[in-house]
Amino acid sequence: MGTQESNEGLNGMSPGRRALLGAAVLGAGGAVLGLPGTARADERYGSSGYKSLPKPTIIGHRGASGYRPEHTLGAYQLALDMGAHVIEAGDLVPTKDGHLVCRHEPEIGGTTDVSAHPEFADRKKTKVLDGVSTTGWFTEDFTLAELKTLRAKERIPANRPHNTLYDGRWEIPTFEEVLRWRDEQTRKRGKQVWIYPELKHPTYFRKLGLGLEERVAKVLRKYGMDKKNSPVILQSFEPTSIQRLNKLVGNPLVVLLSGASTRPWDFVEAGDPRTVADLVKPAGLEWIASYAQGIGPTLDLIIPKDASGNLTTPTTLVRDAHAEGLILHPYTMRNENPFLPANFRKGTDADGYGDAFGAFKTYFATGIDGVFTDNPDTGVLAREDFLAG
Ligand code: G3P
Ligand code: CA
Repeated sequence: MGTQESNEGLNGMSPGRRALLGAAVLGAGGAVLGLPGTARADERYGSSGYKSLPKPTIIGHRGASGYRPEHTLGAYQLALDMGAHVIEAGDLVPTKDGHLVCRHEPEIGGTTDVSAHPEFADRKKTKVLDGVSTTGWFTEDFTLAELKTLRAKERIPANRPHNTLYDGRWEIPTFEEVLRWRDEQTRKRGKQVWIYPELKHPTYFRKLGLGLEERVAKVLRKYGMDKKNSPVILQSFEPTSIQRLNKLVGNPLVVLLSGASTRPWDFVEAGDPRTVADLVKPAGLEWIASYAQGIGPTLDLIIPKDASGNLTTPTTLVRDAHAEGLILHPYTMRNENPFLPANFRKGTDADGYGDAFGAFKTYFATGIDGVFTDNPDTGVLAREDFLAG
């Protein structure tokens, strides 16, 4: 797995906290940061749990990553300001000294300016990450203090040239900074701000002595965000990581599902022969429902594409998952042509928008409970259109 995004045809990468104030979208007000031990936002504003989220739920994928370098406080803030119901803040990877930071992958060559730091030139390495040879700079080889000297940059400038305007503006945020930002925004808005962190490569990091689940649970407990009704949904591509979380925290849990022929990396390491195709069968879904509240499948598992990349007929996954009481939050809707089904593209420009509204409408019609999108503003409008019939 590792680069699940490769199943969607592109590689992935990401960036800050000075950001917090640097983001023009943050607005004034200077709300006091939520500190552990004080009256917490979750206590003051309450939460009725994940079932109370608006449907279909618009989830800002890595923030509003269609408009800002992904996994920065600037991207998270913009997603929230655009009306996303939940912010994927963030994809969590550890530092050498055990802190959790927000990057889509541990390799940070494409999402930060690390290659321009001569003092880190000797940290460049080739590693095998979930079976894939990967060359670059890895968060587990840096202390948090070292990572904080880097700045985020746009991951896919060919598709998002305008986003490079913001290169260098934001730091890599920590998970604790995200939780303080969440508390602050909840106070400012007077309602719960939901986040949706993902644990990346849990088996890989556990073998390095950097187990993620205990660290995530500890931070969540510190901020009072580890309860059943806490506005924090946790996700992972590794089912055993979700099972481990199920014993540590009360939060709603979601198993991510990559392409049908793939096997979760924890299954590979443990010799479990099941593939995603097995997990999306009723017996697989029943098993997932014994420890999780939802699934996050690729959009292709909801509506497969033909050889030309056009959408075909929806599978029975929505019906089958709902029959087991599981919610579905598929990934990832993006406005640019290369990421859309072929029959929704307009022209061939890699940075041109296709008929994203048409694609959203088609996916919403399947009955999904929500969707991850890099373009939360488009998603919010598409949802309004859908609900208006
Ligand atoms: O978390 C949903 C989606 O983010 C999973 O894919 O690769 O973008 O983390 P990825
Ligand atoms: Ca993710």
